[in-house]
Amino acid sequence: MNYYIFTFGCQMNVSDSLWLDQALQALGLKPCSREEEADIFLINTCSVREKPEQKIYSLLGRLYEYTREKPHVFAGVGGCVAQQVGRRFLERFSFVRLVFGTDGLVMVPEAIKRLLKDRHLKTSLLDFQDHYPERKGYQPEKAPVQAFVNIMQGCDNFCAYCIVPYTRGRQKSRSSREILQECAGLVARGCREITLLGQNVNSFGQDKEGRDIPFSELLRSVAALPGLERLRFTTSHPKDIDEEVIQAFGELPALCPHLHLPLQSGSDQVLSSMGRKYNSDDYLRIVEKLRSSCPDISLTTDLIVGFPGETDADFEDTMDIVKKVGFDSSFSFKYSDRPGVRAADMQPKIDDETKTERLARLQQLQSELTRDRLAGRVGRQELVLVEGRSKKQGPPDTVSWTGRDPGGRLVHVHLPVERDCTGEVLRVTIVRAHKHSLSGEVI
Ligand code: SAH
Ligand code: SF4
Ligand code: F3S
Repeated sequence: MNYYIFTFGCQMNVSDSLWLDQALQALGLKPCSREEEADIFLINTCSVREKPEQKIYSLLGRLYEYTREKPHVFAGVGGCVAQQVGRRFLERFSFVRLVFGTDGLVMVPEAIKRLLKDRHLKTSLLDFQDHYPERKGYQPEKAPVQAFVNIMQGCDNFCAYCIVPYTRGRQKSRSSREILQECAGLVARGCREITLLGQNVNSFGQDKEGRDIPFSELLRSVAALPGLERLRFTTSHPKDIDEEVIQAFGELPALCPHLHLPLQSGSDQVLSSMGRKYNSDDYLRIVEKLRSSCPDISLTTDLIVGFPGETDADFEDTMDIVKKVGFDSSFSFKYSDRPGVRAADMQPKIDDETKTERLARLQQLQSELTRDRLAGRVGRQELVLVEGRSKKQGPPDTVSWTGRDPGGRLVHVHLPVERDCTGEVLRVTIVRAHKHSLSGEVI
């Protein structure tokens, strides 16, 4: 039996799909690289905005056509849209025989075994759990060079625009013992970079009423693992990032000088209606502290334009703060109504033309900032952890590799010999800045 996994959405989904992939292989099922070879499709969905949700329906439409000719083929729909839409997927699409939510993922391998035995069965795994649903680890002999490690599930913040607390449930921290064990195992098997993952990592442990260590201590313990080259974490909420975490950037050699700190808006009015619980001055103070703890820190962010009620002046506040901070890069989105969230009832809605215009201006500003920030790296010596082959063409007789500097910037390196240097740390001088990346020469 062959399976094919489609993954949409954030790194949590990517990490969930990786686990599912390993769990299915352990069952004796085979991953396939071409859709045409699949007997089972698994679709890990995202519902953070309308667009990714729409993609699921067009994909299911396409797969429906395909399964008409191959009636034994079936699909499982999981992740955030599945949590939201639930059993209606089973009713609407005959070839969908499994829906699973974000906490239900852990039971998918067992469910697939049952579905393969009983051809008439359809099933759903949509309940939320009270605790972090610990998963059995599958440990290939060699760990990947870079790995994600989940430290929590869900979110309690209920930002007015966001569907995540409904699709991923309440915050549930994983035990620090399990996290450290997984990290130590990865490092022992060759992993060099770990990214700790959660919707709101800075409030790690707060759901456990003091029965576990705070996030800053978790960072210290993971960073202290001998052999771990790099540690990253995502995502942080500005209201929860504390002094200890800020100081950690200056103190822990393994902690990479990069922080993704979603700002969302530069207008205090909009931040307040979003329920973000900080204002623009608070954010700027955090940036100042981060830069004094770690002067070379690379800062990236998320921004939303066209939140209900956003005026021209509000949007200009966002432009101003983006310039003031000088983000290395940012993701920016048009506000999109999600079912059941508070902002869906907020007025006035901003028309699409205005949103498009604001987004274009913001992205133009960010390209200029990114260009300047990248240009500022030329001449520096950096350690680049190689991730794989690069598509960028180098001089003749060279092979191109791509990796990241500690700040998370993409760096291309051309090397004269054909040898696989994935996972190696190269010492390079940055010689050129491109639009979104850098080029380096090995010293
Ligand atoms: N937990 C993270 C990320 C959540 S989703 C955090 O708290 O920052 C990723 C990004 O999607 C958000 O940071 C936000 O910028 C964007 N987003 C979430 N809901 C949205 C919506 N309804 N419309 C547009 N963008 C949205
Ligand atoms: Fe959504 Fe806010 Fe939670 Fe992030 S912190 S996942 S934006 S509710
Ligand atoms: Fe999307 Fe769910 Fe992640 S909505 S962004 S896949 S938490």
